[in-house]
Amino acid sequence: MTGKSERLYLGIETSCDDTSCAIYSPEEGVVVHRTAAQLDHARYGGVVPEIASRSHMKTILPLYETVMEEAGLCTGDLAGIGVTNGPGLTGSLLVGLSFAKALAYGSGRPLIGIHHLEGHILANGLEKPFVTPATVLVVSGGHTQLIFVEKIGRYRFLGGTRDDAAGEAFDKIGKLLGLPYPGGPSIQKAAANGDPGSFTFPRALRHSGECDFSFSGLKTAVRLKAESMGELTAGDIAGLASSAQEAIVDILAEKSLMAAKMTSPEMFYIAGGVAANSRLREVMKERMGKAGVPVSWPSIEYCTDNAAMIACAASHHIEAERTDGLELNTFPRGELTSWS
Ligand code: KG4
Ligand code: ZN
Repeated sequence: MTGKSERLYLGIETSCDDTSCAIYSPEEGVVVHRTAAQLDHARYGGVVPEIASRSHMKTILPLYETVMEEAGLCTGDLAGIGVTNGPGLTGSLLVGLSFAKALAYGSGRPLIGIHHLEGHILANGLEKPFVTPATVLVVSGGHTQLIFVEKIGRYRFLGGTRDDAAGEAFDKIGKLLGLPYPGGPSIQKAAANGDPGSFTFPRALRHSGECDFSFSGLKTAVRLKAESMGELTAGDIAGLASSAQEAIVDILAEKSLMAAKMTSPEMFYIAGGVAANSRLREVMKERMGKAGVPVSWPSIEYCTDNAAMIACAASHHIEAERTDGLELNTFPRGELTSWS
């Protein structure tokens, strides 16, 4: 397919329950991207770490071979290899990292470990140029943060959640309403038939004056309301889902607007799995539009975990001559820090 560019980067992402490989070039954008979602977790209502790492082990080699074949490349054609080395599930991260190290050792190509959140942020640069300075709402299953990006590689933490992440709130509320895992897409679907004004759920820390969030009280409020209603009908579930989604979206949009006012960015971005939520996109567009702040988000394929965003981040590091050695390790938790 290609092979002419000398700036072809391989990305590998295995931080949670998606195995993903992709080829990205700064000239061509995403050349090939393949993500294999693990379906075995659904029956447990959440990700089972042991199942996740075993599944990555089975999937990573054939997935890599498919991606390289589709791109018409061999390892020696790569300008470098980027791999998520944290934060995430250690057993899952280790599969991707060991695989990436073996490729780098065998081919002599440069290796770089990428922070998962930097990947999510830079997913906004996969389909169009990434504009800076930018303020980014990163909302995923594990994170809810507002980050100021002065330029690629320079990140300032503005605020984040004190307890559950927004995606975690969607997943936990979905589970307690008996909806299929993951809760985010299921709640969005159920909410389409409900009235967001059916119930008033709390918007925690609304008046804190800071870019911080808390979602654990919302989950409890939805649980208590659902329990008080007895056997739930489809209509009850739609009303609860729609009202819970509205509470999450409302506070995410309000704090995002606060962060935008504090930082005056050229662009406001949304990143991470929850950025796929259609109600969040609608409300952000409306409120940011009123405030005169341009807002953008990636295609759904690049909101949820994917290796294209890791390959893209790798291109920035490696072209700035930042690489890692084979002693590179994983980290389960850790803030995104500046490198430029
Ligand atoms: O970024 P991601 O794929 O993985 C992590 O890094 O965590 O995000 C997964 C999260 C899950 O909590 C999932 O429920 C949520 O993103 N999500 C959504 C939607 N699609 C995925 N939440 C709300 N609405 C959606 N449409
Ligand atoms: Zn993620």
